[in-house]
Amino acid sequence: MRFSVLTLFPEMIRNTLETSITGKALEKGLFELETIQIRDHAVNSYGKVDDYVFGGGKGMLLMAEPVYQSWLDAVKCYSSVHADTEFEQAADSSVKRARTIYLSPKGRRFDQEAAARIAKQDHVILLCGHYEGIDQRVLDQIVDEEISLGDFVLTGGELAACVVIDAAARLLPGVLPAEEAYMNESHMSGLLEQPHYTRPSEWQGREVPEILLSGHQARIERWQYLRSLMETLDKRPDLLRSSDLKIEDWEDLIVILQEDKSRK
Ligand SMILES: C[S@@+](CC[C@H](N)C(=O)[O-])C[C@H]1O[C@@H](n2cnc3c(N)ncnc32)[C@H](O)[C@@H]1O
Repeated sequence: MRFSVLTLFPEMIRNTLETSITGKALEKGLFELETIQIRDHAVNSYGKVDDYVFGGGKGMLLMAEPVYQSWLDAVKCYSSVHADTEFEQAADSSVKRARTIYLSPKGRRFDQEAAARIAKQDHVILLCGHYEGIDQRVLDQIVDEEISLGDFVLTGGELAACVVIDAAARLLPGVLPAEEAYMNESHMSGLLEQPHYTRPSEWQGREVPEILLSGHQARIERWQYLRSLMETLDKRPDLLRSSDLKIEDWEDLIVILQEDKSRK
C-alpha cells in the first residue's frame, strides 16, 4: 500500500512517520510513504503557491494549479511504479485508481471504521491544506472524500494526515507483531478495551486484580469482557446499544461493582 502526501511541510510527515512502529514498517517495506512538496509546483520561480481570497478576508488560500500538479505527480508516480505493462499504464492514467482524501475541519469525523476502510486501498493520496485552505475548484476536481480529526481547527492538515496514516498503517499485515495486538483494542469491537496491568503485581499499595494472576483463562477472558463493558458504560455510554448487554452481563457487572466498592 502506498500513501502519497501533498504538503508544504514534508518534514513534518517524515519526522513523525519514520519514527517507532510506522518507521520500522516503512524500513521493512510493509507500506510506502511518498511526500510531494506542493511548492515544487509553484506558479513562479519565487515559489508562489498561495494568493488572496476573492471577495475579501484576511487570509491566503492555496492556489488550484500547484495543488493539481502535485496531485498529478502522485497519480503518475504510482502508475509508473506499479503498472506492469504499457497497457496498464495507459489504463491507469485514464481511470483514477488512487483515493484522494482532503484533511479538513469540514470533513467526516475520523474513526476506526474509516481507518480500516483506508487500510484496504492500494493507493491513498492525502492533501494537506494550510492558511485559509485550498481553492474550491481543485477540491471539486480531485477529492473523493474529506476527513476531519474533530470539531476544531488546526493550522495545517499535516498532523491530521499523520494520524490517518498511523491508524491505517497499523492495521496492515505485519506492521504489528500479531493481529491479536489490535483485534481486542478499543473501537475494534465497538467497546473500549479493559484496563491492563504489568509487573510488579503490587505498586504503591495498589494490587493487580487477583483474577489476572490466577492462570484460569476462561475466567480471565470473562473478566476482561466485563471490564471492557464497564469501561464503555463509564466513559463512552454512547457507544453501547442495549442489545450489547445480556441479563447475565448486567448480573455479573453488579457483582463486580459491589466488589470494587468494598475494596475502596
Ligand atoms: C486553518 S485551516 C483552514 C480552516 C478553514 N478556513 C475553515 O474554516 O474550514 C488550514 C488547514 O488545516 C487543516 N485542518 C484544520 N483543521 C482540521 C481538522 N479538524 N481536521 C483535519 N484537517 C484540518 C486543513 O487541511 C485546512 O485546509
